[in-house]
Parts: sequence; C-alpha cells; structure tokens
Amino acid sequence: MSLSYQYSEKNREKQVKSTFRCSSNIALVKYWGKKPEGIQLPANPSISFTLKDLYTETTVSVLGANTSGAPEFDFLFEGQPKPSFIPKLTDFFNRILPDYAILREFYLQINTSNNFPHGTGIASSASGFGALACCLAELEQVHTGQPVSIEKISKTARLGSGSACRSMFELPAIWGAHPLVKGSNDEYAIPFKSNIHEVFTDMMDAVLIVDAGEKSVSSTVGHGLLKGNPYASARYEEATLHLTEICTALETGNMTDFIRIVEQEALQLHAMMMLSNPYFILMRPATLSVIEALWAFRKETKIPVMFTLDAGANVHLLFPGIHNQQVKNFIEGQLLDYCQNRQYFCSAIGSAPIPIQ
Ligand code: DP6
Repeated sequence: MSLSYQYSEKNREKQVKSTFRCSSNIALVKYWGKKPEGIQLPANPSISFTLKDLYTETTVSVLGANTSGAPEFDFLFEGQPKPSFIPKLTDFFNRILPDYAILREFYLQINTSNNFPHGTGIASSASGFGALACCLAELEQVHTGQPVSIEKISKTARLGSGSACRSMFELPAIWGAHPLVKGSNDEYAIPFKSNIHEVFTDMMDAVLIVDAGEKSVSSTVGHGLLKGNPYASARYEEATLHLTEICTALETGNMTDFIRIVEQEALQLHAMMMLSNPYFILMRPATLSVIEALWAFRKETKIPVMFTLDAGANVHLLFPGIHNQQVKNFIEGQLLDYCQNRQYFCSAIGSAPIPIQ
C-alpha cells in the first residue's frame, strides 16, 4: 500500500491521505437475508464477480485532530457535500470505531466519485464501502505501523454494506460459511481457490439500464423482510446448494449448469421479494422483455449469454468475452429500446482494489 504526505500551508499540520479505486460486483449466487444475530452476517453464502470497469474512487484525508473521540468527518460526493449519506456513514464508523485508532484520533474528509453516472440504478454501495475500507486500512497501517490484513479490510467493507466485502478480489469472491468451501465464513469474503475453467476466465457483463430511478425498496429493507418469511429457510438451502453447484461448474467448465444456476438465482431473488410481507416488485415490464429477448437470442444463436439481476430493474448480461461483438450487436439491435435513455455499460470481470497515487 502507498501513502502520500503533504503539508498544509495554512496550519502547517501534517496531512495524510489515501486514495483507492474499488470495483463494484455482481452476485451469481445472491446474498438476500441476514442472520438474526451479529451485525451484517449473511443468512446464506454467496459468490460474485467483480466488475472491473464500474468502480468508485475514494480519497480519505486527515484534516486535523479529533476532539470528541466519536467519528468526525466531512463527506464529499464528486467534490460536493452530500448530507444524505452522513447517517449511513456515521453508523458504519461507529461499528468499526474500536478497530480503527485513526477514527478516534483524527478528523477525516472523505471524497468519493463513481465512474458510472449517478442515477443509473447501478449500485455503488459495494464499490463505495470497498474503496473506503481500503483507504481506512492504509491510513491505519501507516498510523499504527501494524499491517492490516485483507480479511480485516473485507470485514470492514462488510460492516458498511454486506456485498462490499466481496469487492476485494480479482477472482470470484465467496462470502458466507459453506460446509464444502474451505475457509469460507460469515465475517469476510475469500477468493475462489480452485482452478477456474478457461471458458469462464474472460467473462464480461453488460448492464442494461432499464430503470435509472431510485428503488422503491432499498436492499437493506428487503433483507429485513426475510425475517419471519415462511419461504426464507428453503431459499437459504437453495442458495447453499447453488453455491456447491456453481463452484463445480466453474471448475469443470459446465456452461449449461452455470447458466441455469445464475438465472435461477436471479429469479429466486425477485421471487423472495414477491413473497415478502409487504410484497414488492423491483422488475419493470422492460426487465421481462429483455429476459424474453435474451432467451430467444440464446436459443437461436447458441451463444452462452445469460442474465442476472440485482435488487433492481436493471438486467446484467453475462457472457464469455469471445462473443463480445455478437452480444453487442444483439444489445444495440434489439435491447436498447428497453433501456432508459438507451443506456448500457459494459465491463470486464475481475479486478482487485487499486491504490491511486
Ligand atoms: C441483491 O449488500 O446492498 O445485490 O448489506 O444491507 O448493505 P446491505 O445490502 P447489500 O445487498 C445486496 C443484495 C444483492 C445480492 C448480492 O449482492 O449478493
């Protein structure tokens, strides 16, 4: 990790800052539901790909001394104050306060921006908390002289937003205890350790912006609605089985199984929303139109392109990079009418956080 020191001309205090780029991720097996005990512990294991080209860049700067012992910070989004983010950040800092001396000793400024436009419905909490956790770890490491492990960084990110803990690895990331995955646990994510079959090594994700608006139900509220849901335990069992199956498919190169699991997971996630009380639907009519067009395209061309969804209306199309041009032609020829402002974003898979000088 690297760190830059500057002197403020004004107060001659030593300023320290850390900047990181961290990618967003898309789950193949979904985290949906939290354990009743503990903080931000998943009810089932999940696995994701990081989206290299959709990322957040965050700088955390030390501005001065902390005077209260409670977290003291300014938050800027693209250089402008963003008061609506302060409560979530305050909760996050209070959760990690015992583990980070820098939070008790310094007044911090956080300046963050995404490389994808605001208001596209692309979730930025994973990349945002991932980048913030990396910056805090670097500052803590320099301040205390003690190395901060990747496990601690992933755990820190999790305490901001569960899915953020999976944004730490170039390889697929597994989060949540699974009996057959050695080292898997609820506290932090680990990289997929077995060999990945070559058919999955150059995957790409095209994110179709079906609805750029604010979601009617946030992920955090959606997770909460699994509490007391009679279908929840069956869903957690399914996710656990899917994780076993998808790990096998990743190793053996079984694309048929991989597609089935990824699409089942997307639909089960949204089925759980419909089975909640109160019930809700985040898919839009255009979400279904895209899925139907995709199924017809796959049947006709035999190209292994599949869809997944996160907690929103946007559709992610996953496919091996070798088919990039045909999928691009399909999207631009048949799907852009379903996309708000005809927008979509394409990303390669796989990227660990990068320190920025
Ligand atoms: C549907 O990580 O956003 O994208 O932990 O409450 O911040 P909090 O929720 P969040 O939930 C992500 C849910 C999901 C599936 C996934 O990424 O696994």
